[in-house]
Amino acid sequence: MKVLNFGSMNVDYVYQVDHILIPGETLASKERNVFCGGKGLNQSIALAKAGIPVYHAGLVGEGGDALLDVCRENGVNTEFVKRVEGPCGHTMIQVDKNGQNSILLFGGSNRCITKDFVDEVLKNFDKGDMLLLQNEINELPYIIDSAYEKGMMIILNPSPYDNALEECDLTKVSLFLVNEIEGEQITGEKKPEKILEKIKEKYPKASVVLTLGSEGSIYQDETGIYRQEIYKVKAVDTTAAGDTFTGYFISSIIDGKPIQEGLALAAKASAIAVSRPGAVSSIPLKNEVENA
Ligand code: RIB
Repeated sequence: MKVLNFGSMNVDYVYQVDHILIPGETLASKERNVFCGGKGLNQSIALAKAGIPVYHAGLVGEGGDALLDVCRENGVNTEFVKRVEGPCGHTMIQVDKNGQNSILLFGGSNRCITKDFVDEVLKNFDKGDMLLLQNEINELPYIIDSAYEKGMMIILNPSPYDNALEECDLTKVSLFLVNEIEGEQITGEKKPEKILEKIKEKYPKASVVLTLGSEGSIYQDETGIYRQEIYKVKAVDTTAAGDTFTGYFISSIIDGKPIQEGLALAAKASAIAVSRPGAVSSIPLKNEVENA
C-alpha cells in the first residue's frame, strides 16, 4: 500500500506578539521567524517522522525552495511536487505570549492545481492505496472523485473549513480528522457527542477523530468510541499541533496499532509540537515521542 498526501506547502512568516491583533489595531511584533509549513506539508513530515514512507503531491511557487529541501531532508518523496510560476503559498501567523495563534493564509501556488496535474499524479496510485487531503488546495472535489473511482482509501482533514467542501462528495471519505469547530461546521452541532452522532448519521461508513483542544480527542468507528486526554505541556506555539496529531494517528493505523495506542501516540506527539516553535520544525521524531 502506498501513501499519498495531496496538499499545501506554505512559507510561514511567524510574528511573536503580545496579543493577537484586534480590528483596526497596529502593533509592533517582538520577533519574526520564517518556517516551512502548510497543513499538507506538515502532515507529510509528521508521517515521515513517524516512519511512514509518504509521497507528497503539490505545487511550489517562487520563494518555496526551502519547502522542497525540507521534504527531502525528512525523507518525504517529492516525485509529485511540481514547481510553478507565481508566488508560493504563504501565511502570516501571529503567536501570542500563551502560544495561541492566528493564521492569515495566501493560497498562491496551492490554488493552481489543474485536473491534468491530478490525473498525472493519481495514475501512479491504485486500489488500496491511501490518500490524505486537507482543504488548502483547489480541485478537492475532482481529487476525491478520481481517487474514489480508483478504490483508494480517502482520509480528509477538512481544514480550514469553507464552502469548497460543500462541493465535495464526503460520502467517499473513510476517515475524517476534525476539530470541534470543523465538526460544528460539518454537522451544525456544538456538543462533541452530537457532532459524532451527526457524522455517523451523514457518513455511516466513515470513522472519525474529533480533537477537542485541552479536552483531548475522541475516535468513533463502527466498533465504538475511544477517548484520549491531552499530555499537558507549556504551550510555546500551537501551530501544526493538529497536523502532528493527524500524521501520527494515521501512522498508527498503517502500523496496525490498536486505536487507543494510536490516539495516545498522536496526543503525545502533538504535545511535543506545542512545546516548540514553528510548524515543520516543531514535529518530533518517533523515537522522541516514544521516549517522552
Ligand atoms: O496547521 C498549521 C498550518 O496552517 C501552518 O503551517 C500554516 O501554513 C497553515 O497552513
